[in-house]
Amino acid sequence: MVLLKGRSFRLFLIVVFLGLSLCIVPIRGDERDVDCLRSIWESVEDPYHYLKSTWNFSNISKGAICSFTGVECWHPDDNKVLNVKLGNMKLKGSFPLGLANCTSLTGLDLSNNDFSGPLPSNISKIVVYLTALDLSSNNFSGQIPADLAECKYLNVLNLDHNQFSGQIPAELGLLNRIKTFSVANNLLSGPIPKFQANFTEEDFANNPGLCGAPLPPCNI
Ligand SMILES: *[C@@H]1O[C@H](CO)[C@@H](O)[C@H](O)[C@H]1NC(C)=O
Ligand SMILES: *[C@@H]1O[C@H](CO)[C@@H](O)[C@H](O)[C@H]1NC(C)=O
Ligand SMILES: *[C@@H]1O[C@H](CO)[C@@H](O)[C@H](O)[C@H]1NC(C)=O
Ligand SMILES: *[C@@H]1O[C@H](CO)[C@@H](O)[C@H](O)[C@H]1NC(C)=O
Ligand SMILES: *[C@@H]1O[C@H](CO)[C@@H](O)[C@H](O)[C@H]1NC(C)=O
Ligand SMILES: *[C@@H]1O[C@H](CO)[C@@H](O)[C@H](O)[C@H]1NC(C)=O
Repeated sequence: MVLLKGRSFRLFLIVVFLGLSLCIVPIRGDERDVDCLRSIWESVEDPYHYLKSTWNFSNISKGAICSFTGVECWHPDDNKVLNVKLGNMKLKGSFPLGLANCTSLTGLDLSNNDFSGPLPSNISKIVVYLTALDLSSNNFSGQIPADLAECKYLNVLNLDHNQFSGQIPAELGLLNRIKTFSVANNLLSGPIPKFQANFTEEDFANNPGLCGAPLPPCNI
């Protein structure tokens, strides 16, 4: 204690402060996105090594993850992930819950893979700021979660060519920024929600029981 009085104590404080500000704070800020990608890497089956060949977590210096295949950052030397684009890689698995740690993610493309299983019912807590979500041409199944309507920034929502069943949640009509939408080629039935944008018949084609504009009216 005697040693920590006066000048020594001030020096001690300065060292602690520098340590905190120079090391811990920036690393913490970056680490969530690294954890996010590590968790995708661990949870997804990658039989053709599209990710295994470039996603190397031994180097987590600033910006290292920004050169990973399919990863785009807000800034090339800052580990903040903007988009994850993993289309056409023959990836398998369920929707990666670890994406919740990519807290600045605006675009997610998992199209043309072998992803399967239901979408998480809390999807809006996992990908809060998405403007574009492309899950087309996979094997996702179950109901489309009504919670997707809470992803308020969505401009693009492509769910076509999957095994989604049940009704399209009416809540999706609340997505007031949506410009592109497709649920074609699924197992959906029931009324099409009223959207603020106008979509075409092709966006709803090849489902066993969808009805209402732009398809023929539902029989009541
Ligand atoms: C990953 O990067 C480290 C250095 O950052 C290197 O030593 C190692 O060989 C790399 N591993 C692979 C599989 O490329
Ligand atoms: C680690 O990543 C940084 C940023 O991408 C790069 O400049 C550096 O060469 C890498 N180090 C090793 C050992 O691969
Ligand atoms: C986010 O990362 C932390 C570690 O930084 C981890 O404990 C947590 O499980 C991760 N969250 C998800 C949803 O993977
Ligand atoms: C979402 O729900 C799953 C369980 O279905 C849970 O493991 C996960 O932690 C939840 N994620 C968030 C961000 O709430
Ligand atoms: C897709 O999922 C269904 C069950 O939902 C399963 O029977 C089928 O084998 C899967 N198809 C592919 C190509 O994985
Ligand atoms: C949608 O179509 C209706 C009728 O054709 C039209 O009145 C409306 O302005 C269109 N809305 C948009 C957002 O294009």
